[in-house]
Amino acid sequence: MQFKWIPLVICSIALANSQDIKSVCTFAHDKLTYLCSGIKGTFPSMFYGAYNIKCAGCEIPVFRSGTFPTSADVPSFNLSSSGIQNITSNAFSMLTKLRYLYLQNNNISGIEPGAFRGLTQINELNLEHNALTHITPGVFDGLKALAVHLSHNNIVEIPGGAFEQVDQITTFNLSFSNIAILHKDSLKGLSTMEILDLQFNKICYIPLGMFQYNDLLKGLDLKGNKLRNFLPGTFSGLKRLLTINLANNEFSEMDPSLLLPMASIYYLDISRNNLFYLDAQALRQAAPTLKVIILKDNIWDCAVLTNLVKFFKTVGIDTFGTGEGWYDVTNINGIMCSMGHVNYAMPFDLYIKKVKADSEKSVNYC
Ligand SMILES: *[C@@H]1O[C@H](CO)[C@@H](O)[C@H](O)[C@H]1NC(C)=O
Ligand SMILES: *[C@@H]1O[C@H](CO)[C@@H](O)[C@H](O)[C@H]1NC(C)=O
Ligand SMILES: *[C@@H]1O[C@H](CO)[C@@H](O)[C@H](O)[C@H]1NC(C)=O
Ligand SMILES: *[C@@H]1O[C@H](CO)[C@@H](O)[C@H](O)[C@H]1NC(C)=O
Repeated sequence: MQFKWIPLVICSIALANSQDIKSVCTFAHDKLTYLCSGIKGTFPSMFYGAYNIKCAGCEIPVFRSGTFPTSADVPSFNLSSSGIQNITSNAFSMLTKLRYLYLQNNNISGIEPGAFRGLTQINELNLEHNALTHITPGVFDGLKALAVHLSHNNIVEIPGGAFEQVDQITTFNLSFSNIAILHKDSLKGLSTMEILDLQFNKICYIPLGMFQYNDLLKGLDLKGNKLRNFLPGTFSGLKRLLTINLANNEFSEMDPSLLLPMASIYYLDISRNNLFYLDAQALRQAAPTLKVIILKDNIWDCAVLTNLVKFFKTVGIDTFGTGEGWYDVTNINGIMCSMGHVNYAMPFDLYIKKVKADSEKSVNYC
């Protein structure tokens, strides 16, 4: 009973000494959390122990190495919506036991190299919904993290060598940004990365050799980009890849040999492209480990789709996956197909119109 009061007592002593009388950290027993409010400059120097910290109504334009001045074993630091614009080197060096660092919904546009140096036990570093337009090479130097979330920024480019000195990032989420420019060495240093999420960016080109450093990668999400084709060797290095998502891109042909390097591939999503032809046999030969291929929302004609589904069925590959389908137009198990012949790429909305019109025309009234 008695020990519960210790943090409070120390907190008020620290308060009395603090220059900024409005910045207060109070201890919430039920959440084992210090709630710090109104922090503008630095956090009060006080005992934080191994409790969580959450900032509320803070306004910290630049988070620098002195901003958090006391060494502590804080496991979770919630700095979301704290008006942060910049983070300088070694900003969190007093908090080496951090496992959760929440920096989402700030206005962060600049992070200096080594900003997260010293953080080697991170489960989640969250930088979602910020204003980053570029990745400064070295930002994650020395960081060891199970997951880094950078989605919903405005990042345009991943410079070569940007992550060379990263200790470890297992899941890297770079989705929903503006990434268009990638380099051969963009992913160098991420040798233990297992999941890479690049969905909904503006990628139209992947340089040869980009994945050569990532031979532990298991999941690659490239959905919702502007990819039209791949050079042979684009995916070289991805021997352990299990799932790849290429949906919502712009290719009208798919050369199955692009799957050749993927010795373990299990799941391939090529839905919502402009495919009207696919060499199923070559695909099977290139990827004998494949178990699921998602085909929907391409511009299939029903004869082509029937053959594809038949073939994949005989070799034990599921073509339907889960999720909704088109059941009120001509389709196979919800995969829309056209009764008329399709032998050229056409815009998807035009194709839908055609299928709908054909479907209505062919209803047999009796
Ligand atoms: C962090 O704090 C924000 C409010 O400032 C809250 O919405 C969010 O849920 C908190 N995150 C976690 C993981 O506690
Ligand atoms: C974000 O920061 C920029 C300066 O970097 C500033 O002009 C802008 O008003 C800020 N936006 C918000 C929502 O605070
Ligand atoms: C934050 O960093 C950006 C880009 O490095 C810089 O232009 C800006 O002046 C910095 N803002 C503050 C408040 O230091
Ligand atoms: C990456 O972030 C996006 C947006 O927050 C989310 O939808 C997606 O599930 C995340 N991916 C992974 C692998 O965590």
